[in-house]
Amino acid sequence: MNDLTPDREERSAGLKGLGCSRKRVEDARFTQGKGNYVDDVKLPGMLHGDFVRSPYAHARVVSVNKDAALALDGVVAVLTAEDLAPLNLHWMPTLAGDKQMVLADGKVLFQGQEVAFVVARDRYVAADAVELVEVEYEELPVITDPFESLKSDVVLREDLAGQTEGPHGPRKHHNHIFTWEQGDETATNQVLDDAEVVATESMYYHRTHPCPLETCGSVASMDKVNGKLTLWGTFQAPHVVRTVASLLSGIEEHNIRVISPDIGGGFGNKVGVYPGYVCSIVASIVTGQPVKWVEDRMENLMSTAFARDYWMTGKIAATKDGKITGLHCHVTADHGGFDACADPTKFPAGFMNICTGSYDIPVAYLGVDGVYTNKAPGGVSYRCSFRVTEAVYFIERMIEVLAIELDMDAAELRRINFIKKEQFPYQSALGWEYDSGDYHTAWDKALKTVDYEGLRKEQADRVEAFKRGETRKLMGVGLSFFTEIVGAGPVKNCDILGMGMFDSCEIRIHPTGSAIARLGTISQGQGHATTFAQILASEIGISADNIAIEEGDTDTAPYGLGTYGSRSTPVAGAAAAMAGRKIRAKAQMIAAYLLEVHDDDVEFDVDRFAVKGAPERFKTMKDIAYAAYNQAIPGIEPGLEAVSYYDPPNMTYPFGAYVCVMDIDVDTGVPEIRRFYALDDCGTRINPMIIEGQVHGGLTEALAVALGQEISYDKMGNVKTGTLMDFFLPTAWEVPNYETDHTVTPSPHHPIGAKGVGESPHVGGVPCFSNAVQDAFRAFGLRHTNMPHDHWRIWQTANDLGLHE
Ligand code: CDP
Repeated sequence: MNDLTPDREERSAGLKGLGCSRKRVEDARFTQGKGNYVDDVKLPGMLHGDFVRSPYAHARVVSVNKDAALALDGVVAVLTAEDLAPLNLHWMPTLAGDKQMVLADGKVLFQGQEVAFVVARDRYVAADAVELVEVEYEELPVITDPFESLKSDVVLREDLAGQTEGPHGPRKHHNHIFTWEQGDETATNQVLDDAEVVATESMYYHRTHPCPLETCGSVASMDKVNGKLTLWGTFQAPHVVRTVASLLSGIEEHNIRVISPDIGGGFGNKVGVYPGYVCSIVASIVTGQPVKWVEDRMENLMSTAFARDYWMTGKIAATKDGKITGLHCHVTADHGGFDACADPTKFPAGFMNICTGSYDIPVAYLGVDGVYTNKAPGGVSYRCSFRVTEAVYFIERMIEVLAIELDMDAAELRRINFIKKEQFPYQSALGWEYDSGDYHTAWDKALKTVDYEGLRKEQADRVEAFKRGETRKLMGVGLSFFTEIVGAGPVKNCDILGMGMFDSCEIRIHPTGSAIARLGTISQGQGHATTFAQILASEIGISADNIAIEEGDTDTAPYGLGTYGSRSTPVAGAAAAMAGRKIRAKAQMIAAYLLEVHDDDVEFDVDRFAVKGAPERFKTMKDIAYAAYNQAIPGIEPGLEAVSYYDPPNMTYPFGAYVCVMDIDVDTGVPEIRRFYALDDCGTRINPMIIEGQVHGGLTEALAVALGQEISYDKMGNVKTGTLMDFFLPTAWEVPNYETDHTVTPSPHHPIGAKGVGESPHVGGVPCFSNAVQDAFRAFGLRHTNMPHDHWRIWQTANDLGLHE
């Protein structure tokens, strides 16, 4: 007989499991400056690498003279493509099936491209030596416009000359990479021909950059005595880096240990493999010393991982009363000098084919043409799941344009076209099966909370006041409704470099009833150590405070595909739940033995197994863990451990309804965000406080992208926004107060019903901010204007509409 205090509710609260706004356990070290980032790694005898980079966007490299640099005291080596060629490391494979120069091999294709790698005693000497490397260039014609590129005689990728087939099918031109088509174009064109109304629009989703607080870097340490390479780096996918490093270097995989320590934000920037990683490894092998490479802010903005750069043209067909009948989308995708997009192999334009959005569109077509230009490679999913941001921006702008065409309210147009609750699981025209959703409830809640009708009335009054000359401020009501697609796998559809996109969790319960769990993912600020422990707490009945979470060390963590695309909760979170269930199954047998009843006669109750119908007869998980190690139980192995590799049956489809109310001063072009309401539905909520933090962060990055952040080039291919003086990062000054809200529509296939959330606010936020700007000018005839809506461009829009006369 046992004491039944504390009661069930108190025991449940003590677990700090699902639904608890548990404080982030990571923050103690982050707020006290005790984080351990790549640049904090300091090893005896460590050398420092720095790149000589091309000032030209397109040029032949005639010669590289290292003599003066090598003569500088403290310089140990200067590596060029010639040095890497015998090792076959002067080029490397990209995640998109293309290849990329590690160091310039005969020519350069973008400004900032890596030409030589200087290795020196310290970073200062390395930087001085970079200045002493003499590179002779012969300038070549520069192409920064993908449309011009497809017409030009200039061959950008001479290494591919004559190749009419690429990794994603036929190439139509020497600067063309691939054509990717989804859906039924003939049927879509037929619907467009027959439609009562067709709205057409072209839009440019500008090139931008994830710009995390910490830039990319690595420390390679080759121990020649035992043949083991240890590599610390800012890697969002450490296991994949280990496999790629093994394949490239020939070092057996078990002799490579990759460690992702604390990471200061990723947002897609740290998914790809960069020349710096390869060069630090080679330099360590060559010199026999550890070599550190950490890029500076300008290098980060200029050369690693751009995002977006999609030119999108849409045609949307509808009946006169607003029922959408078909959608046609074509994208010209500027991939820069190498196709280094970070997408699952079979999706060269990522999940752009979610561009039918949250709407029941019977017929659709998507065509994407990838093109080479003289810009940096990348094409990463900046806080989104593989081009979902582009897709959602596209459809949410097309809806607004259609509303203008139909002279209809854009909120109502959305409502009549939403996929209905009873249609889930919903098969989209472009091939996805949406798992669950209740869009109408979310939309109604959002519109009611912000008093949508009241806002429209106020806006109409403002237009009249403006026309009477009583105000110079217009009011915009930005709407967006988004559906994300997160949690890649399933393995049958999604792989990266041939590795299926599952994820994993291994859990070990110690005899005293505390635990350690290791996962194949890696947090970059999302709070995994806090939330994964909560999932496990609810599954195994041990308090989250007694469960340590470890990620990012390939010598200890089970193999996983890493963290990006909001996949951690849908995939590794599911693996954690499944590993927890394995523990519970074994614990049940142990409990039954200890209680001297049949396995089926005990049931799990928060933190214990109790005899059915006799709750006072129980064994806590702590008792069970102790017994697992200390008592011989017939037919049961000692110990309490489990591992789960989880291949998700489907993606999860979080969604949300956002409203932004904005005042715009037409004379200065300055927008003032008066209100931002964000309703997110990510299924079962693990930690509401962390979700809120994710929403705040995602919205702030959305504000940045919509209202000013861009990587822009001049005609010569010079990066015009390569410093934080020019590249917009919002501060507390620009960021409004966000109101967050939620509905809960669990995923039917995820073990705990959770969907991802980290990227949703970015995906939904960008069109919402942009729609607010555009909506302010709707009454004056604006149909569409491209982002980023910085003050100058907003002023220009007002001017073009004659509002300054
Ligand atoms: O892959 P990534 O960690 O970037 O994204 P995520 O899976 O959306 O998770 C971001 C953070 O939000 C993690 O700490 C999750 O555990 C947490 N989260 C949550 O508390 N509830 C959800 N339904 C989804 C995520």
